[in-house]
Amino acid sequence: MIVFKMGPQRLLRDLPDPSPGVYSKHERKTVSFRRWLLWIPLVIFASLLYVFDIGGELQYNIPLPYNIAFDKPLLNVQSGFLVDTVGCRIPDLDLLDPVIREFIKKENPLNCHEKHPLLIDANLTSLFIKKSTLPIFNISDEELECCYQPFWRSKPRSENDNFDNRIVFADNCTSFKNEVSIEEEFVKVTCSVDNQIVYKNYHAFVPIKIKVEKFCKDARENTSSRNRERMSVLILGMDAVSRLNFHRQMPKTESLLRRMHAIELFGYNKVADNTFPNLVPVLSGLSEKELRDTCWPQTSSVFDKCNWIWKNFSAAGYRTAFGEDAAWMGLFTYVKHGFKEQPTDYYLRPFMKTAEDDAGHKNQLNANLCIGPKMSVAVLLDYISNFAIAMSSKDSFAFFWGASLTHDFLNYPSLGDDVHEKFLKHLVNTGSLNHTVFIFMSDHGIRWGGIRETYQGRLEERLPFAFFVFPNWFRNLYPTAIANLHKNTHRLTTPFDIYETLLDILNLEQIENESIRRRSRELNEAKSKPRQISLFLPVDKSRTCAEAGIDPHWCTCQRSKTLPVGDAIIKNMSLIIVDHLNSLLKPYGVCSQLKLVEVKSASVQYPQEHLYEKTKDQGLKDYVLVIRTTPGDALFEATVRRHINNSSTEVTGVVSRINAYGSQSSCVTDFHMKLYCFCKSYFGTRT
Ligand SMILES: *[C@@H]1O[C@H](CO)[C@@H](O)[C@H](O)[C@H]1NC(C)=O
Ligand SMILES: *[C@@H]1O[C@H](CO)[C@@H](O)[C@H](O)[C@H]1NC(C)=O
Ligand SMILES: *[C@@H]1O[C@H](CO)[C@@H](O)[C@H](O)[C@H]1NC(C)=O
Ligand SMILES: *[C@@H]1O[C@H](CO)[C@@H](O)[C@H](O)[C@H]1NC(C)=O
Ligand SMILES: *[C@@H]1O[C@H](CO)[C@@H](O)[C@H](O)[C@H]1NC(C)=O
Ligand SMILES: *[C@@H]1O[C@H](CO)[C@@H](O)[C@H](O)[C@H]1NC(C)=O
Ligand SMILES: *[C@@H]1O[C@H](CO)[C@@H](O)[C@H](O)[C@H]1NC(C)=O
Ligand SMILES: *[C@@H]1O[C@H](CO)[C@@H](O)[C@H](O)[C@H]1NC(C)=O
Ligand SMILES: *[C@@H]1O[C@H](CO)[C@@H](O)[C@H](O)[C@H]1NC(C)=O
Ligand SMILES: *[C@@H]1O[C@H](CO)[C@@H](O)[C@H](O)[C@H]1NC(C)=O
Repeated sequence: MIVFKMGPQRLLRDLPDPSPGVYSKHERKTVSFRRWLLWIPLVIFASLLYVFDIGGELQYNIPLPYNIAFDKPLLNVQSGFLVDTVGCRIPDLDLLDPVIREFIKKENPLNCHEKHPLLIDANLTSLFIKKSTLPIFNISDEELECCYQPFWRSKPRSENDNFDNRIVFADNCTSFKNEVSIEEEFVKVTCSVDNQIVYKNYHAFVPIKIKVEKFCKDARENTSSRNRERMSVLILGMDAVSRLNFHRQMPKTESLLRRMHAIELFGYNKVADNTFPNLVPVLSGLSEKELRDTCWPQTSSVFDKCNWIWKNFSAAGYRTAFGEDAAWMGLFTYVKHGFKEQPTDYYLRPFMKTAEDDAGHKNQLNANLCIGPKMSVAVLLDYISNFAIAMSSKDSFAFFWGASLTHDFLNYPSLGDDVHEKFLKHLVNTGSLNHTVFIFMSDHGIRWGGIRETYQGRLEERLPFAFFVFPNWFRNLYPTAIANLHKNTHRLTTPFDIYETLLDILNLEQIENESIRRRSRELNEAKSKPRQISLFLPVDKSRTCAEAGIDPHWCTCQRSKTLPVGDAIIKNMSLIIVDHLNSLLKPYGVCSQLKLVEVKSASVQYPQEHLYEKTKDQGLKDYVLVIRTTPGDALFEATVRRHINNSSTEVTGVVSRINAYGSQSSCVTDFHMKLYCFCKSYFGTRT
């Protein structure tokens, strides 16, 4: 049974509209109000679901209730900022801001199977003919001839070979009827009637490889950590999906992640422009430039010499995997030369490249959205699923990246919501994640299109999503590390930090309670902070983009300037704050209404210039004021947000009380009201 403390409130405030919406102009005005109304029955229903866990087929093998204090909701709680620290402030923007809404629309499903019905299906180990599909092909079981033909990556023949594209097919195509068990990794299936090909498709399997198993066994024997608890790592990426776009477009996946107690990074800022320089840090701990300086001297060089993190996992006896769809624009192969030797034990490229070239269709902009009867991304997810299940009792490190669906289209992530949800459910239900840290992430938001001409779009481009999922027992065993990760969700974080985090997962001794305490102390005392910090350690509040290795152009932290307290605009804003407080106090007849005494300090936080330059709207400015009010001599710090285009000005987030209120507010019990209320009945020293 799962009980969410914050459940209903959170649903109300934060969930995106269930069908990210196409609204006509006149609908727009009423829609936000109607959205609220619509939520009411839904929220009640959802709460019942949570309380009674009647959520359907989702059966958790992992015991889920995990009720400890720092279990925060996924979405930010109304603070107005994603990150609000000395070193960095990043504004929390609206999922469906009016400026953004015009770009959000519902897309039609891809229906890959419409022209390519599924005739041969597969499970973990076998291919079988789907008899029910035969009528669609107008053929009978007897006349159908099917065979499968294995293929694989071939050894390069010369120094200048196009290493990562060379594929060899077996000479024979092995016939089968009904079903056949497959020992090989990749096969092409072909079916004919009267020697006319009527069907072809590609299937990838995850056979246990004897050589790899032997290597892993020996390697594990060699490491000092052989007898310790170990965790596999499964990283799944979606290309070009900002954090907000993920929440807008993939509510089912989001809700499942929430139930899996995923920990979301709110201040995850990209460090460079596109996919490659944002993933190189994750996989090597290096910037693109550092990679060039250490192991990749020319663009024409292969990547074999670089210390990719999977090598470290491999050396410790983990099976390794790397795979991506849209193989023609692969991470290491798009205008680059890939690997001479296959980089990981399981390497999907030969399969994806062949399947996409031969059976890919629905080509839009850069990618084939379908392979045969399935979405390309679903083919990838099926493979990952097979991999995770095959490896569920073995140590493994796997990095998978899906780009076909999302690389070019702001609204296509929604077409992947169902398949991602199904994929995750399957992993949970098969218990495949009980010894795995699952990381779900993106590299950046969408980099082109109309949304990029808005301030919010610019910000979103720089703020991809990142979630971490751990099994319950793991969180209970490493509570100090997990508590730090929770704190870091509202700190400025980067791909470099994920690399450091992976190293800690490789060496779990590093995150035991005592180690974390020691390492935190060392970090705290360090004169200059390292650029990259494991997310299991406390990331400092003073961290700036420069310290975190974020190129200024990609930095989303606002800049800050002190303003004279006498400015008319500041005066106006201080009154807006007092009005705001008084309206909060109004229902509490026992509390006095407040009056402004003085503005103690004021500053403006404004976006980096490039974030609003040449955009349609000019973004927002956040004014941070400290004011003193009477009666009670209270000091309040508040943020007033001003949308520059329409001059709409409002108090955002919670107003902080920054001096003690003592017994001034003893007449109210509500926590927030205690901060603001000066009781009419108060007999202390009045000021
Ligand atoms: C896969 O399907 C074959 C043939 O139907 C069956 O014998 C086998 O048990 C199935 N394997 C799994 C893992 O489901
Ligand atoms: C099957 O036969 C029907 C009617 O004869 C025809 O409309 C349809 O196009 C045929 N389908 C295929 C895949 O040949
Ligand atoms: C190909 O088929 C022939 C005849 O069936 C068989 O003798 C041979 O071993 C097969 N070759 C491979 C590589 O499977
Ligand atoms: C294990 O250690 C031995 C001796 O140091 C070394 O020769 C061997 O290559 C190592 N094996 C693996 C798989 O790392
Ligand atoms: C990872 O492995 C490389 C060799 O591939 C080695 O140079 C590096 O020191 C290792 N890193 C860690 C943190 O163990
Ligand atoms: C998950 O792993 C933990 C720790 O090894 C073990 O105690 C627990 O029984 C496992 N749960 C399942 C459902 O396999
Ligand atoms: C860390 O501390 C928690 C609670 O204090 C304890 O349950 C857990 O077993 C400890 N973990 C390790 C690895 O010692
Ligand atoms: C602040 O200024 C705006 C427009 O300049 C005005 O409409 C508003 O009433 C002022 N608010 C207060 C509290 O003075
Ligand atoms: C915002 O203001 C700028 C400059 O005043 C103007 O060019 C632009 O059209 C406005 N955008 C919107 C969405 O109103
Ligand atoms: C001003 O624009 C912002 C950002 O688009 C929007 O959230 C807000 O509702 C607008 N306010 C008014 C009064 O139109």
